[in-house]
Amino acid sequence: MALNIKRPNGTEDVIPRDVHKWHTIEKIARETAESYGFGEIRVPTFENTDLYLRSVGETTDVVQKEMYTVMAKETKFTLRPEGTAGVIRALLQNGLLNEALPQRVYYTLSCFRHERPQAGRLREFHQFGLEMAGSDSPAADAEIISLASTILRRLEIKNVKLLINSIGCPTCRAEYHKALREYFGAHKDKLCGTCHERLEKNPMRLLDCKVPECHEIGKDAPIILDYLCDECRDHFEKLKLYLDTLEIEYSIDPRIVRGLDYYTKTVFEFVTTEIGAQGTVCGGGRYDGLIEELSGHHVPALGFAMGIERLLLVMEKQGCDYLTPRRCELYLAAMGDEAYTVCLKLAKQVREYGYYAEYDVMDRGIKAQMKYANKIGAAFTVVIGDNEISEGKAKLKDMESGEEHDIPLNDKFLGTFDSYYVDKIMNVFDDMENPIPL
Ligand code: HAM
Repeated sequence: MALNIKRPNGTEDVIPRDVHKWHTIEKIARETAESYGFGEIRVPTFENTDLYLRSVGETTDVVQKEMYTVMAKETKFTLRPEGTAGVIRALLQNGLLNEALPQRVYYTLSCFRHERPQAGRLREFHQFGLEMAGSDSPAADAEIISLASTILRRLEIKNVKLLINSIGCPTCRAEYHKALREYFGAHKDKLCGTCHERLEKNPMRLLDCKVPECHEIGKDAPIILDYLCDECRDHFEKLKLYLDTLEIEYSIDPRIVRGLDYYTKTVFEFVTTEIGAQGTVCGGGRYDGLIEELSGHHVPALGFAMGIERLLLVMEKQGCDYLTPRRCELYLAAMGDEAYTVCLKLAKQVREYGYYAEYDVMDRGIKAQMKYANKIGAAFTVVIGDNEISEGKAKLKDMESGEEHDIPLNDKFLGTFDSYYVDKIMNVFDDMENPIPL
């Protein structure tokens, strides 16, 4: 049988040439989250399957169709399909909810969902997300929406719309469920098998069924906003007021219910029409019942997650700027064995200053070394041979302008740039740094 060592469907590699694009998103997201008081959390890639059944919900597509679950010695584990459940589990297990509230954490992680792969929909994808636990105020909802919109703005992503909705609490949902059962009950014969089950167990899940017939029927279903209790209505009104105050534009979309069961009250999505059908670049909301469901203690919470691959699709499409990828700052070319040992010492010294230096490790001749330096786009080169060693100086060449500068090699200890010159070279390198516009 032929050996299949290809990448599995729906997964991607990120090669060094592209990784600066990821770094751009990660850096901006991380710095923005930290400026709002969020600290990084890291959690395992897999959790006990029960965690997802209890949080994401047994009637969701994610749990019913998309989880990667393995049986390992009598225990069922699942590769995380999303970040919230594991992060909340970690907050509980590490006693963080007994510390100062609100707790604010952010994360960058891979998620796994067995979906049909297409542009913007992968089986392994990456999220930047965050969770805030302890506040039931709509000001917290406005705060995280503001944070998400700041990240998108700093990434220079344009034409993304913010859609908000409230899906109420268990009190208002009782009436709403009744209305949905009545409505979908009248179309029962046209619904898919899974939706038949959902009609009994969790009728709101019918609203995000991906089967086209169910989706079509769902378009005329009653909307939750008509069923909100006073408290949920008031929460939603205040959120709108805060968003107006922060000058964040939004539209109300009563069709947004989100595909995970834990949400209550506010739900929101940032969407674009520029990358095809999978246009939601960020989704989130409040989940006031989840922590109680997992621990018995009532702690309201909320958060969001952005799909990094989807952000990259939009950024490519819109020609957004990325952090400048690091390139070789100094290539040290050697002619002869003695010169080679000097290059080794010089490279070590330059790297101590934090600079990126290279020399030959392929036993190449001087011509081939220079060809390589050109290929990797080295900013400066120094050629060292017998002459340079006997004269105690070498030429530093600016590869872009062709300009050459004499660099003394310390005559007491060959293999050391005079510190005055190291600083001078470094100043030239400093100009190449590219601070991110914030
Ligand atoms: P979600 O809407 O399932 O929410 O996923 C969040 C984001 O992850 C989506 O908006 C999308 O950008 C990206 N995403 C989801 N599935 C895929 C996929 N198959 N391929 C590529 N990107 C994808 C959550 O996961 C919640 N945990 C968000 C949250 C945090 N809510 C509260 N706190």
